Amino acid sequence: WGFLRWTWRLTYLSAIGGVAYLSYHIYQSKYPADQAEPDPSKKTLVVLGTGWGSVSLLKKLDTTNYNVVVISPRNYFLFTPLLPSCTTGTIEHRSIMEPIRNFLRHKSTAVKYYEAEATKVDYENKVVHISDDSEIKGSTPQTSVPFDMLVVGVGAENATFGIPGVRENACFLKEVADAQQIRKRIMDCCETATFKGQSPEEVRRLLHMVVVGGGPTGVEFAGELQDFFEHDLRKWIPEITNNFHVTLVEALPNVLPMFSKNLIDYTEQTFKEETIEIRTKTMVKNVTDTYIEAEFKDAEGNKVLEKIPYGLLVWATGNSVRPMVKDLMSQIPAQKDARRGLMVNEYLVVKGTENIWAVGDCAIANYAPTAQVASQEGAFLARLFNQMAKTEDIESKLGVLSEEQSTASGKEARDEVFGKIKDLQKRLRRVKQIGPFEYSHQGSLAYIGSEKAVADISWLTGNLATGGSLTYFFWRSAYLSMCFSTRNRILVITDWIKAKVFGRDTSRE
Ligand code: FAD
Ligand code: NAI
Repeated sequence: WGFLRWTWRLTYLSAIGGVAYLSYHIYQSKYPADQAEPDPSKKTLVVLGTGWGSVSLLKKLDTTNYNVVVISPRNYFLFTPLLPSCTTGTIEHRSIMEPIRNFLRHKSTAVKYYEAEATKVDYENKVVHISDDSEIKGSTPQTSVPFDMLVVGVGAENATFGIPGVRENACFLKEVADAQQIRKRIMDCCETATFKGQSPEEVRRLLHMVVVGGGPTGVEFAGELQDFFEHDLRKWIPEITNNFHVTLVEALPNVLPMFSKNLIDYTEQTFKEETIEIRTKTMVKNVTDTYIEAEFKDAEGNKVLEKIPYGLLVWATGNSVRPMVKDLMSQIPAQKDARRGLMVNEYLVVKGTENIWAVGDCAIANYAPTAQVASQEGAFLARLFNQMAKTEDIESKLGVLSEEQSTASGKEARDEVFGKIKDLQKRLRRVKQIGPFEYSHQGSLAYIGSEKAVADISWLTGNLATGGSLTYFFWRSAYLSMCFSTRNRILVITDWIKAKVFGRDTSRE
């Protein structure tokens, strides 16, 4: 009985602690403290983008040290790892968005935010040209912002490799609008397929969901879509049951090339069980509004071009460089050999410049273009900038003290100043000790449908490759803990419960 009483007390206390912790966070996020105004004598630090790299930098940056200006066409941070779940309504898109204004309002010194796209960085004149491309424009939709320091964190575009018809006909999966378009289109295909008098061939086409690209984006989306069909669509629209079909097309011999071999096999086996068709060694060459043309080799080794009709086409073949980044690269001679983005050194300084840094998918630092890399790079830059500000502060104090020392009269006064100088020099050495950026890989995770996930995790002794339902719970808890805010976490949990209890919403907005 004593043991039970103690267990009960401990549970009770932890529950109270949990509620208090949650309430504190909610209160803090709702009522931020007053902010100081930026000091115009400080350097202007312009940050482009509100994605993983830039937001991770802003999170840790001490904004009292700079005049910080953030420019991005997206006035929110998007938690991309859960974006595939928004295409089917497992999660509502607003649950993984965090308004940038709320976040910036919590910084100790105010930060300026402009909702605009940086159209050009004029490297020579240290100016960023920006344009408000939103629906409502004021009297000056275009202007420029001067900078002393610039961080480019604008991410990347969808790669199409110039394949005809992709931009016009395919859906991508990078932004909230893409997920919304896919969700709408899935329902449109299902409703149109059940329209009176539709030919059987057209029904088959409309219900053929084709995903191009077997990287993690394509695999996660295919898994989510098949779940949507199995758990909800076939129940509410039984007419589509025999024709709804998901196909994943991949040019390489296997999907998820960055995962361990056993996890690739596990994923392919799981897809087979889920009846998702995988077409590996198949390269899409052309896209029209109703079919794709895909090339593969037949049993005799001859190249065959096959027309594959589709109702929904999702294109997930990786990243390419944004035009604005290409333009910046062309202005810097040291970037002439760069192809996939801005080449940076070990401190993330854009090679060939002194005052421009790049983070995330637009920077080439020999790491994969992932959120994990971008957020570590952003956090590193915040530390670097905080240290730089401290260094400058100490150096200017040292300048004043050495003047004081030369004018001080009497040995005692000179010794006192000398002591202060020594202390400051010691601090300066400590502050200056910041090593280059080192990426620490925590592992890779991907959802593969049927409440299963795969994980390649860096473990104490090496690598742990695991897949299945337990990994799926790990996947959920890992991403939940990584969500931007307590608000996001609560919304995501609520969405998961809603989808489980009531099923996903099949209405077309
Ligand atoms: P982004 O996060 O893309 O942010 C770029 C920012 O720049 C945006 O705010 C954009 O609006 C802004 N911008 C664009 N153009 C301009 C301009 N001209 N001027 C100013 N601002 C501009 N990685 C993982 O590690 N784990 C995962 O599970 C994972 N899942 C993913 C799922 C999906 C569906 C996708 C698409 C990606 C996923 N990734 C994942 C990859 C990860 O999202 C990217 O690597 C990461 O977003 C890169 O961060 P970033 O800051 O470079 O760019
Ligand atoms: P990716 O670059 O990882 O994969 C794209 C795939 O498309 C490649 O396997 C390529 O062979 C294939 N492909 C290219 N052209 C093709 C064509 N014409 N026909 C058929 N196949 C073609 O791209 P993805 O999945 O968009 O990911 C981008 C980045 O984001 C990656 O670095 C990835 O690691 C990261 N990411 C990570 C996730 C995770 O960790 N869970 C989830 C989603 C993205």
